[in-house]
Amino acid sequence: MSHKTWGGRFSGATDTRVEAFTESISYDRRLFRHDIRASQAHARMLAEVGLLTAEEADGIVAALDAIGVEIERDEFAFSIQLEDIHTHIERALIERLGDVGRKLHTGRSRNDQVVTDVKLWVRDSLDALDGLLKELQQALLVAAEGNRKLVLPGYTHMQRAQPVLAAHYFLAYVEKYQRDRERLADCRKRVNVLPLGAAALAGTSLPIDRDSVRRQLGFDALAANSLDVSSDRDFLLEFVFDLSVVALHLSGWAEEWILWTTTEFGFLDLPDAFCTGSSIMPHKKNPDVLELIRGKSARVTADLQQLMVLVKGLPLAYNRDLQEDKVALFDAFDTVAASLELAAPLVRESRFRAEVIAARLEDGFLDATTLMEFCILQGVPMRAAHEAVGKLVRLCEERRCRLADLPPEVYESVSAGLSNGVYKVLGVANALAAFQSVGSTAPAEVERQLMAWRTRID
Ligand code: ARG
Repeated sequence: MSHKTWGGRFSGATDTRVEAFTESISYDRRLFRHDIRASQAHARMLAEVGLLTAEEADGIVAALDAIGVEIERDEFAFSIQLEDIHTHIERALIERLGDVGRKLHTGRSRNDQVVTDVKLWVRDSLDALDGLLKELQQALLVAAEGNRKLVLPGYTHMQRAQPVLAAHYFLAYVEKYQRDRERLADCRKRVNVLPLGAAALAGTSLPIDRDSVRRQLGFDALAANSLDVSSDRDFLLEFVFDLSVVALHLSGWAEEWILWTTTEFGFLDLPDAFCTGSSIMPHKKNPDVLELIRGKSARVTADLQQLMVLVKGLPLAYNRDLQEDKVALFDAFDTVAASLELAAPLVRESRFRAEVIAARLEDGFLDATTLMEFCILQGVPMRAAHEAVGKLVRLCEERRCRLADLPPEVYESVSAGLSNGVYKVLGVANALAAFQSVGSTAPAEVERQLMAWRTRID
């Protein structure tokens, strides 16, 4: 008898090259828990509607548990002849239960089965990612609290721009990862719609109860259109897009910290445990983990591209192309999860070199914009104030001094009376204290945000 679930139609054996080419067991075996769970729910439902007896369903549920244990213990024999995880498990069931096992696939198809398994897997992955993102946010929050007094130069175009509190810097990433968590939570809504029961493409003439399966598996709703179900991979596009955004956030941060560990910046010390050395240059301490977090983001965005091209031009309903979805899906998830697992301890265990940062903080005219805003408050029109401060910066560059070093006459020449009070906004500490807008790096505002985040991250 043929190993194939579809053997009846065929008289000749499958070419071994075709078996090797078409198999997915090498990567979809990781769905086994979800496949078993979905099959158990399906079997119980079949008993409820009278397509199985209660004893048959109990036997199937128990045998599936035993198969799960075997796979878990690595005692299960996989073969590319059995194509994918669904066929393997069904085959093992039939070996154990004979004709009762042959009844499990009643009222379903691998087309709705595979997408149900994948949705269950994605749902678990979404929950795991939420935990990892939260852990990273907590590490960032602790770093924000632990560097309360530290002031960093803020950059635009990688040029010194305005001063920012280190806490403000860390909270910027907390915000990004919060949006990532929200995006994933939103994606979960569309993931949590049950495909099973759509059967091959048109539904079934058997009296199945889809809602029973939905309740058992914790889905929120039933997919409404059977024809849509087996071709729908929108939720994977969304999920891998969301993963790509996480990967890009991680990559930008990694780039920043790689720069900050250079001798040129010298802002940051990374823990030895997260760095590697050079085989020839004895002095090197390289930020390889950060580089690979940056580098691996390329894989995740490539996975998204792969999925988008995969579904492009696919007619309804199931097409075998879709089997390849899991290659990109698993790679994207594994890559982001692994990066997040290292990002949190890296944040926890890295140390800012406050002295090095402070020693050069007055360089780069971080107070120039505050000076311009002070001129505006004195009645100078914004564009005129911008022009005037630009000229003062040029003057400072000629004299190799800072804005705070310019004498009162210079300020008087910009606008009469300006020298009164101008020195109270010059210098980084003063410039920082002058901020006041909501969402700014104003110390009181940052304190308020820290307070809010302490209770918000859950
Ligand atoms: N291994 C297949 C996949 O991952 C399962 C669905 C196969 N369906 C079919 N009609 N051949 O997509």
